[in-house]
Amino acid sequence: MAGLFHPTSLGDLDLTNRIVMAPMTRSRADERRVINPSASEYYAARADAGLIISEGINVGPMSNAFDRTSGLWSDAQTEGWRAIVDRVHDKGGRIVAQLWHGGRASARGLLYDKQPLSPSGVNDDLDRLQVWALLANGAYVRVSATTSRAMTLGEIRVAVEEFKLAAANAVRAGFDGVEIHGANGYLIHQFLSPTINQRTDEYGRSVEGRSRLLLEIVAEICDVMPRSRIGLRLSPFADYNSTRDPNPAFTYGRLAHWLQTAGLAYLHLADTNAWTGAPDYERMLPIFREHYRGPLIVNAGITPERAADIVNSGEADAVAFGRLFLANPDLPARIRAGGPYNSPKPFGIYGGSDAGYLDYPSLESVAQEVAEEG
Ligand code: PHB
Repeated sequence: MAGLFHPTSLGDLDLTNRIVMAPMTRSRADERRVINPSASEYYAARADAGLIISEGINVGPMSNAFDRTSGLWSDAQTEGWRAIVDRVHDKGGRIVAQLWHGGRASARGLLYDKQPLSPSGVNDDLDRLQVWALLANGAYVRVSATTSRAMTLGEIRVAVEEFKLAAANAVRAGFDGVEIHGANGYLIHQFLSPTINQRTDEYGRSVEGRSRLLLEIVAEICDVMPRSRIGLRLSPFADYNSTRDPNPAFTYGRLAHWLQTAGLAYLHLADTNAWTGAPDYERMLPIFREHYRGPLIVNAGITPERAADIVNSGEADAVAFGRLFLANPDLPARIRAGGPYNSPKPFGIYGGSDAGYLDYPSLESVAQEVAEEG
């Protein structure tokens, strides 16, 4: 496991180890979409990660795939995140804000009764979109997506500006950088997909057109922070949210080529189909590595043992863990010790109280309890 504990740098982000906390939706924000104060304890407990990638943070009011996810467009939302970032920094950790626009993966009921926005208004697969809401009785349930409509050029401009404002607010909140969520069937991924993006204007038609939204977002964010603090998450094969691409090698090969010169902090590849037992790691990596030699984080379905092989062989610089970090606040210490690992509880993943959120024990707290009992 030693390789996982070698420091490294991803752009301007200095990591004390290669164990990254993956972004995970926890859905506990308030009605104003201000992050829950208990998140400071949740993230501070995980500050030994080489890097924390925050849960997806909505860049504007038209992004809301999961009810009660926070935002980063208002002052109150920014202040809320600032308290959390401060706690992580006090504990010596590093944290970037994941910037999220859900696009068509939403429903009127989650968007102040507005129609979800999408590249082209493709609506033949609404039953495949992951949209979740909090009921008054406290249950967090999957709900039907409602039909989206094609964005106007003006609305695309607004979305780009929202990413820029959210990035500026991330700087104000003290985040070490941002990660642009270009994966898992959300707005940027929707534009990249030739199935979901059937536009005939400059944001569609060709791979250059489909990539235009992403490149404009990167360019705008570069106005508010150095590109060496901007990460990008992609998931070329993800079936999640039904974002089909008949030729990912073509779309993402071109993006890899661009990334090689873009000078971003890192590329974060999510092997999302591994969640359902169908990993794409082996076919995903070569598409990027043919053109892109820059910093790389890989994620999903990777055991700590495999992670050590990945960083030792130089396949990637760091590995992000989701569920393992959710259930094990002291994951680096546990990896170093060879386990054991807590399993995620069946409640409290999305929404709710501190149960299933702040009550996962660290090895140290378990040892203390045993000592006290003895
Ligand atoms: C989720 O909360 O299930 C979720 C959120 C964002 C993703 C993927 C999954 O990119």
